[in-house]
Amino acid sequence: MGDAPVAVTEHLTKVYPGGVRAVDDLNLEIRRGEIFGLLGPNGAGKSTTAGMLTTRVRPTEGRAVVGGVDVWEDPARAKRLIGVVPQSNTLDRALDVRENLYFHGRFFGMRARTARAEADLLLERFRLSDRATAPVMALSGGMAQRLMAARAVMHRPQVLFLDEPTAGLDPQSRIALWEILRELHTDGQTIVLTTHYMEEADELCDRLAIIDHGVVMALDTPEGLKRSVGADTVVTVTADGDLDRLGQVLTDRLGTATSAVVAVGKLQLGVRSADGVLPTVLSTAEDHGFTVRDLSVDVPSLEDVFIQLTGRELRD
Ligand SMILES: Nc1ncnc2c1ncn2[C@@H]1O[C@H](COP(=O)(O)OP(=O)(O)OP(=O)(O)O)[C@@H](O)[C@H]1O
Ligand SMILES: [Mg+2]
Repeated sequence: MGDAPVAVTEHLTKVYPGGVRAVDDLNLEIRRGEIFGLLGPNGAGKSTTAGMLTTRVRPTEGRAVVGGVDVWEDPARAKRLIGVVPQSNTLDRALDVRENLYFHGRFFGMRARTARAEADLLLERFRLSDRATAPVMALSGGMAQRLMAARAVMHRPQVLFLDEPTAGLDPQSRIALWEILRELHTDGQTIVLTTHYMEEADELCDRLAIIDHGVVMALDTPEGLKRSVGADTVVTVTADGDLDRLGQVLTDRLGTATSAVVAVGKLQLGVRSADGVLPTVLSTAEDHGFTVRDLSVDVPSLEDVFIQLTGRELRD
């Protein structure tokens, strides 16, 4: 047992009617106790992947297995092993906050007294105690998300899945949810989350897969992915003219350049050391007839990794 993955996907593929290949031959192994992220832009196939891991979407090929159970073959058993926070609000609006937890516990076979006690513990833990009897309609987006997460872990699932848990939340609510996810992680909860926020993936995930068009482009720890850029500094140059040529010119001039990628009208130059780079970039560009309109220096981010892999930006 010990090191056996708690969830796997084997050649997992989804082709929707009409022919969209949303997920294409996905092979993942989720380790017990980790926070695993699927990072990708809109339409990358994140929700479809989460859906196939959580009984909601039928795979076209391959399979998803959680805790040894084939999710599509045996959805009833799979549902006991997973907790799900989907991308849209699925709270029961006929029930108040505490009741949403209580009836979930009852549905999963808890005695009334246990369900009540568990609900109260979860309300405390997810910072919702003062809202126990509020209608769920009255919750802010961040509170609703916390309640869905509380409900999802109430039956002690082996894996907690969250699909874009902080999309649309204000920064404070986002940080509050991150804190709770970190606490769950500390207690050993395996978590799989999807996100299109690189900061979220970077902050939370032990490992993550960058996906685009249903395909894994890279999979590693956040640090490993950022190291893969092969630079300790990224210089972004906005200038008029042929940026590919500027990239070539600068790479030739700077001995320390490791990459030059043109994406969304900017040149991104990976360099091994930032020392003296900016003046050299400016003077070299001007010597070759380029007018530099903007120049910035940063450490590599997951955004840079995505740009290197796809030539596009992750942000929408
Ligand atoms: N029910 C469906 N029928 C047909 N095509 C679909 C269906 N659901 C998703 N798709 C398509 O499959 C692709 C992947 O969609 P999916 O929702 O999995 O992406 P996502 O990464 O979750 O995107 P988002 O960031 O918008 O949530 C997209 O091209 C989408 O239009
Ligand atoms: Mg989605």
